[in-house]
Amino acid sequence: MANPSPRRTSHPGSRIMSVASYRPRTEVGNETVAALIDSSDEWIRRRCGIESRRHAAPDESLVMMGAAAASKALASAGIDPLDVSAVLVATMSHRGRATTVAPLVADALGATAAAAMDLGAACAGFPYALATADALVRSGAAGYVVVVGAERMTDIIDDHDRGTAFLFGDGAGAVVVGPAQTCEIGPVVWGADGSHSEVLRYDETGILRMAGPEVFRWATSVVPDVAKRALDAAGMSASDLAAFIPHQANLRITSVAAKALELGPHVQVATDIVTNGNTGAASIPQAMAALPDTSGPALLVGFGAGLSYAAQVVTLP
Ligand code: COA
Repeated sequence: MANPSPRRTSHPGSRIMSVASYRPRTEVGNETVAALIDSSDEWIRRRCGIESRRHAAPDESLVMMGAAAASKALASAGIDPLDVSAVLVATMSHRGRATTVAPLVADALGATAAAAMDLGAACAGFPYALATADALVRSGAAGYVVVVGAERMTDIIDDHDRGTAFLFGDGAGAVVVGPAQTCEIGPVVWGADGSHSEVLRYDETGILRMAGPEVFRWATSVVPDVAKRALDAAGMSASDLAAFIPHQANLRITSVAAKALELGPHVQVATDIVTNGNTGAASIPQAMAALPDTSGPALLVGFGAGLSYAAQVVTLP
């Protein structure tokens, strides 16, 4: 190999340096959604805990929202975009003309030296991308990595579909991952079960269709199991946690998991779904950003279409 580039050095660990969120301007209450699907505010609150969600306007594209969250995260970490070596975008709702979102987000950030790629693991996308960033930083393949979760779920939802129209929202969240002397992003526990992919799938027109009760049953069994295995992998117990931040799929799924983990009252349980809806791959970083006064270890669990799941314990920035 002629004139190989010098390799970066590896690091003992990596850490989340900062977190930020972008919430679209338009807040949409249950009454508006319910009117299209013969439902009610009361039914929606009872079945999934949602009171309102955000819908993106035409100018609030995936790239715009992802870049806005990432730009805030970079500023808060004090990292120059030129020093970013990779931008990873987790998304399941990209229907634009560009093949991938990440190069456009990197360009909007001015991260001109960064590798950029999308990562498709649906609502498990953020913890998948975080595990990838952790591996890149620890190996020395990357220095600073921007990890974004961005969704315009309204682009892939039929607003007359009684099973999904009330559940999903739009938005973006981002973190900056950098080197650390200790492992502040714990070992990932992840997996997939493609044999049941039909319960959350795109139809022939690219619209997301969901078998709600089947997804509910799967999620309430897989989330506590994966969460416990991620705690074990990190050498921790639930009592060591400061926060539990599962994918904001449905408040009832979060409650079942929190009960199964026997979380004490000192553990902050993320409930961002109440005013944000289910924002797919964006939900975990958005929920993390919504807990600004919480520090210490947090358990993240992503799960969704694929079916895919991933969990890890991280130190909150
Ligand atoms: N509004 C009002 N009533 C509705 C309704 C709606 N939007 N959707 C269904 N119903 C009615 C049904 O007609 C049914 O009525 P019946 O008992 O008279 O027949 C009843 O509510 C129960 O329907 P079901 O489909 O079994 O609803 P559910 O209790 O399972 O709740 C979900 C639906 C979607 C809230 C629930 O299945 C769920 O949360 N699933 C997991 C979804 C999820 O987390 N997805 C994201 C994964 S990333």
